[in-house]
Amino acid sequence: MAQLPILRYPDPRLHTVAQAITVVDDAVRQLADDMLETMYAAEGVGLAATQVDVHRQLIVMDTSEERDQPMVLINPEILWASDEMHVGEEGCLSVPTIYDEVRRHARVKVRALGRDGEPYEFDAEGLTSVCVQHEMDHLRGKVFVEYLSLLKRERIKTKMVKKTREDQARRSR
Ligand code: NI
Repeated sequence: MAQLPILRYPDPRLHTVAQAITVVDDAVRQLADDMLETMYAAEGVGLAATQVDVHRQLIVMDTSEERDQPMVLINPEILWASDEMHVGEEGCLSVPTIYDEVRRHARVKVRALGRDGEPYEFDAEGLTSVCVQHEMDHLRGKVFVEYLSLLKRERIKTKMVKKTREDQARRSR
């Protein structure tokens, strides 16, 4: 197991569209395990492979209170989405310290392959619904701040560039 570096917005690699995974082999399982370790270490509820600069359709999540329900979603698809929408505050490990409101489908039905390569389906609501839609956006190359106004996005970009520079200076000291 290893922790992986997480790309930070506005890194252009975050806009890469991920490819489907054709075979769930040991390398894919290793990536899923490393992504889970990275997500837990960063105290996130979800992480897409895009964020660790691997452009394949793999997501890990854990939206449980106890942080003991890891989920692996390979080639996820939304089978159904509610007409009802929900506005909630979101954050992202690629955009640290930034939280803002995004409008999403309140409930979704999802199909994916699991870590074992077997297909499964589940109904999601609340945080799990938000998380799966947020992470699937990453696989399409979309970061949640792209739902915000241009002005907000420009402010966030400036803040992230500054923060990344400060973090690098701190590390090299
Ligand atoms: Ni994110």
